[in-house]
Amino acid sequence: MAAAAPDDTMTALRGRVLLIVGGGIAAYKILELVRLLTAAHVDVRCVLTKAGTEFVTPFSLQALSGHPVHQELFSLTDEQEMGHIALSRSADLLVVAPATADLLAKMTVGLANDLASTLLLATDTPVLAAPAMNVRMWEHPATRANVATLKARGIEFIGPDEGVMACGEYGFGRLAEPPVLRDAILARLNIASPTSGSARPHTSSTMTCTRTETGSSCDIVPGGTVVRSSVETTVDGTTLWKPLLGRHALVTAGPTHEPIDPVRYLGNRSSGLQGYAIAEALAALGARVTLVSGPTNLLAPAGVTLRRVETALEMEQAVRDALPADIAVCAAAVADWRVTNAVTSKIKKSADTTPPSLHLVPNPDILAALSAPGPHRPSLVVGFAAETDDVEANAIAKRKRKGCDWIVANDVSVGTNVMGGTENTVLLITSDGVEHWPRMTKTDLALRLARRIARRFGAPALSADGDMN
Ligand code: C5P
Repeated sequence: MAAAAPDDTMTALRGRVLLIVGGGIAAYKILELVRLLTAAHVDVRCVLTKAGTEFVTPFSLQALSGHPVHQELFSLTDEQEMGHIALSRSADLLVVAPATADLLAKMTVGLANDLASTLLLATDTPVLAAPAMNVRMWEHPATRANVATLKARGIEFIGPDEGVMACGEYGFGRLAEPPVLRDAILARLNIASPTSGSARPHTSSTMTCTRTETGSSCDIVPGGTVVRSSVETTVDGTTLWKPLLGRHALVTAGPTHEPIDPVRYLGNRSSGLQGYAIAEALAALGARVTLVSGPTNLLAPAGVTLRRVETALEMEQAVRDALPADIAVCAAAVADWRVTNAVTSKIKKSADTTPPSLHLVPNPDILAALSAPGPHRPSLVVGFAAETDDVEANAIAKRKRKGCDWIVANDVSVGTNVMGGTENTVLLITSDGVEHWPRMTKTDLALRLARRIARRFGAPALSADGDMN
């Protein structure tokens, strides 16, 4: 008989999670995660992979979750009690933690050769993956490509964090800490976290960084109390690199839709992937992030406040509402024009009438307005330039015209597969000149840009940034 989970009553239940536990040393942290979730009245059912049993026992997971642990694809008992299709579909959220390189690869190609991979293939329930692996495995092009593909399909990621790993190496690859995972899961279930608002001194804090021979150090000032700190911060005993802690970053992403009538609009092919990845990367480095997004199919990145808008005018207002900000990154593909003669009833088409004429007026330039001198100008404003010809010359001219500090310029001509694709090749134009960045996934580009932004605010350079000055 299964042990009773703490507070596991039908009346107290606030959401159902199917937790797929992969085989990695970080699996031990999952026991704490199950405890935190059940304490928050979440019903947790666990699936343990074969490799996972090397690190945690089914008995421990059963004792903490209060339910039998599922391990076998062809288990007669499980098929009688609950088929694997029903098992994945009965949950509000699937969580893969630790999401090993092997599990991510299986998810990408759609393998179904064990219970975990079959469940992931047989469901349309939202999936949150918390990767954990050796830094070299995380940085391998195969894993980078798998993560980019999964993100494009709508799988959400939390972590991995940067720090020292069990294998002794340093870098990205640590499983996000259980309280952080718990909060991300509760947010997906629309449940307020028991600790929400207390973890970080965001709104009232300021941070001044100074560079020394050995790196940077920062004074974080939450609510007037000076706390001596470095760009590294400690969360539940884990040291994380959070150089943007105390900063507010505003990111715009996605297209805007300009209505013609209730069913038709002017739009463009922007997927929002790049802007969402930048928002997530800035949040991972400690920034408080407001993401103002036009219509996309993407879910809110972990730890980011998402404001959804439809039109350029709504985006302009949401950006204004989000100020003040230290950093603004305008990655949205704002429609250049809007229709002034839009109507509220569907325009009828008939063979004998001429097509309607659309009267267009220019939309406000959000990037130019943010870049204009004034008390609310963010100290760093970054624009994007999607060009099809003379990318460098046009981007340099655009930086001047818009008044922003940096321009990230990319070639979106036919064949580059940038618009809607998962990879990007860009130039970074700053007041110091032009940097040519190699082709990389939009996720890697976001991380590199976020680290470059952190350096602008005083953080030391990382070797992962190559020979960037
Ligand atoms: O003028 P263009 O559309 O080429 O400029 C691109 C840059 O300007 C992007 O950063 C985009 O987000 C921003 N932009 C804006 N508001 C507009 C048009 C573009 O913020 N109306």
